[in-house]
Amino acid sequence: MAAKDIRANGPAHVAIIMDGNGRWAQMRGRPRLYGHQAGARRVREIVESCPSLGIRYLTIFAFSTENWKRTQAEVTGLMTLFRRYIQKEAQELLQNGVRVRFIGDRDRLDPKLVEMMRRLEELTEANDLVHLTIALNYGGRDEVARATKRLAREVAAGRLDPEDVDAETLAHFLDTCLLPDPDLVIRTSGEARISNFLLWQSAYAEYEFTPVLWPDFTRDHFAEILDNFGTRERRFGAVSA
Ligand code: IPE
Ligand code: IPE
Ligand code: MG
Repeated sequence: MAAKDIRANGPAHVAIIMDGNGRWAQMRGRPRLYGHQAGARRVREIVESCPSLGIRYLTIFAFSTENWKRTQAEVTGLMTLFRRYIQKEAQELLQNGVRVRFIGDRDRLDPKLVEMMRRLEELTEANDLVHLTIALNYGGRDEVARATKRLAREVAAGRLDPEDVDAETLAHFLDTCLLPDPDLVIRTSGEARISNFLLWQSAYAEYEFTPVLWPDFTRDHFAEILDNFGTRERRFGAVSA
């Protein structure tokens, strides 16, 4: 790998809204699930490119709390795909130094899938090279609501004084409590919206929208976006130095 690939002022945490699988399949006259399968294969290349691109945290949006509105066939197909992904990739992820975490509400997921998620987290928990977080049945508003519920329980139990609650307190109850905020959020497929992804955490993230459909998104596309990130000035509300 080329030394120039290592980016000194690149983003440490990149989050990706992997969009466009359905359109990719449609363009080929194939069912949507065919696009999801192609999309799942893309994940490996992008995860594997992280160390050489200087990315320590990668968070990917796999299934939103709103995606249940799709046909039962598509939802079932996606759930099967998630199980297969875990089965197929577990050893590779372990050997590549990837620590996997899942965010989102597990209560509505099949217990068998939830158990596989838990085991993959446990299997890779000693890894530290790349922190891969998979957002599955994830919604930003749902996450904040669940966090608030947990926070309220602490208050009700007398363990937390409402007067002490600030932004940091709430962040502590989010699914992402162990992760830094994303520096860069990428969305593929040309849509320029957030679709309920990491609402709280992306307060100061940079955004990049690319027309490339997720199953076509390569390491080179990724590297190009990261190059562009290096030229941005992030001010976080202050004025230029
Ligand atoms: C993203 O691709 C994958 C999931 C939401 C699971 P889409 O399925 O949304 O693809 P388009 O947007 O219909 O092309
Ligand atoms: C966002 O994509 C969710 C994932 C990529 C998993 P969607 O395709 O579901 O979002 P909308 O419906 O276009 O906003
Ligand atoms: Mg979509």
